[in-house]
Amino acid sequence: MTLGPGDEDLVRVAALARERAYAPYSRYRVGAAIRTKRNKIHTGANVENASYGLTVCAERCAAFAAVAAGETKDWDAIAIVIGGDALPSPCGACRQVLHEFSPALRVILATTGGARKATTLAELLPDAFGPERLAP
Ligand code: THU
Repeated sequence: MTLGPGDEDLVRVAALARERAYAPYSRYRVGAAIRTKRNKIHTGANVENASYGLTVCAERCAAFAAVAAGETKDWDAIAIVIGGDALPSPCGACRQVLHEFSPALRVILATTGGARKATTLAELLPDAFGPERLAP
């Protein structure tokens, strides 16, 4: 899948967010940026903790920033950026959290070295469990 219009801009914003990653333990710095259909952008970076299990990934940080800003649906795309050349892959927990709010999300994987891949959340998390499966 090819990148859509504006995706490269979203990658740039995610790369800037990555500069604010707090990752002194893994040194694996991740930035994420979600653009909504209303054209708002919400960013996140991974935040680690001396109690390692409390770490929050960049993608969930961006998702929760969007929700905290009142945007709980209609997210168009998320860009996820790491350093180097090998593309990132969002963890299972983040895939599930993103699905809660926008199952049709496009996912742009990118590196600071210039690698790019466009995919979809539906592809990354097939047959997902979500709010639509709960009884009304
Ligand atoms: N991490 C993310 O922020 N996003 C991912 O897609 C994978 C993992 C973070 C969590 C932790 O701070 C570090 O990367 C190493 O797992």
